[in-house]
Amino acid sequence: MKKIKKVAVVGLGYVGLPTLVAIAKTKLYETVGFDLNKKKINDIKKGINPIGDKEVTLYLRDNKLNVSLDEVVLKDSNVFIICVPTPIDDNYEPDYSLVESAIKLVCKYIKKGCHIVLESTVNPGTCEERLLPIIESLTKYKVGKDINLAHCPERINPGDPRWNVYNINRNIGSINKKFNKQIAEFYRTFITDAKVNEVSSLKVAEATKIVENTFRDINIAYVNELAMSFDAMGIDLKETIEASSNKPFAFMAHWPGCGVGGHCIAVDPYYLIKRAALSGFDHRFLKVAREINNGMPQYTVDKLIKEMKKLNMPLKKTKVVLLGLTYKANVADIRESPSMKIKEILESLDILIETYDPYIKGKYNCLEDAIDGMQTIIIGTGHQEFINSLPVILSNSKVKIVVDGKNCLDRDQIKKMGIIYKGIGR
Ligand SMILES: NC(=O)c1ccc[n+]([C@@H]2O[C@H](COP(=O)([O-])OP(=O)(O)OC[C@H]3O[C@@H](n4cnc5c(N)ncnc54)[C@H](O)[C@@H]3O)[C@@H](O)[C@H]2O)c1
Repeated sequence: MKKIKKVAVVGLGYVGLPTLVAIAKTKLYETVGFDLNKKKINDIKKGINPIGDKEVTLYLRDNKLNVSLDEVVLKDSNVFIICVPTPIDDNYEPDYSLVESAIKLVCKYIKKGCHIVLESTVNPGTCEERLLPIIESLTKYKVGKDINLAHCPERINPGDPRWNVYNINRNIGSINKKFNKQIAEFYRTFITDAKVNEVSSLKVAEATKIVENTFRDINIAYVNELAMSFDAMGIDLKETIEASSNKPFAFMAHWPGCGVGGHCIAVDPYYLIKRAALSGFDHRFLKVAREINNGMPQYTVDKLIKEMKKLNMPLKKTKVVLLGLTYKANVADIRESPSMKIKEILESLDILIETYDPYIKGKYNCLEDAIDGMQTIIIGTGHQEFINSLPVILSNSKVKIVVDGKNCLDRDQIKKMGIIYKGIGR
């Protein structure tokens, strides 16, 4: 393979932009970034960080990144890192179109000896079954002989102050071992505080990420099912899990909530379910987990309706404010967010609904204004602002019921104010 001189990152979102910054910081390579989103490119050029990652903000304050809307910027790159979305459609079918179009684009600029690394999350088999045929049909190069095709799934956790591109261990697999060694060495130049593990194949690398995210989905589905069962029996699941967690081995706490969202956990299991089905295997367990987690927004709304009925509050005349629209706390990402599903369900009920999220522009500029005059609250996201400010604001409000979809408030404190408090599983 050729010496790596120029590196291109395709797709500059939550995964691609921190990766580009990490590689640029090494000062070992010429680095370029390409994206189709004009606003994103303009923001980055102006030094504005479009994703809220701390390292990216710091870097853009003092440095320029060579990013462009013009694909020609990819010319002469030795490594192409693809970080574009891998969503599902309305029928939960994997959508490979963005990855495939990114590969087609890269094909125009690849040369003998280059590496194409897919970082987007995909099911096992995607690189060899979908991407390799595209590359070999559009170029004169043989994958595995003239060029490398690798997969290095990203594990970044946006909004997490502890874990980042630099300190999360990575797994990397390539079409063959020799190429894998070289691309793993390249990754080691910017993953400074963690290990880069060379796995034996592309399929294993692809499978690792799906296994990690499906593990989370299944465990969350388990505690969500327990929440519904414990609600029926009147047992506090939060306290139970806290107590179970003092076992020093073989127990890992997961927490119930109003649903599972984001671009990964709520999506990736479908990629595995569909691919396994093509090989004749039916992932029953994974499907049930998805079904349970997808049902949690409805369960959360049902909890509110039940309490409203007890207080004879009519649906059409009761004001509810949904606090939090993003899929997780302290980030601005609404992809697959359970809160958006809750919003949809509430709107279909004709209830008087308002929303507030400090990370999403909306009708209200502050939490206090959003709660003013409201009788009921659903918390859909556990933003720090809610945890800090709600206890004070609620004590001077007209709110009668709080449904805490994230179990993030102090139940006893809210109850002392004479407000009905319902969590998920408590
Ligand atoms: N966000 C996460 O927490 C996270 C963590 C690990 C892995 N992943 C995976 O990484 C991949 C990317 O996720 P993300 O969160 O960074 O997505 P994102 O939406 O934040 O960013 C993707 C970027 O790709 C751009 N894009 C789309 N098609 C393109 C094309 N053909 N050419 C160039 N740019 C294109 C979009 O404009 C966007 O800016 C997904 O497969 C996701 O599952 C995400």
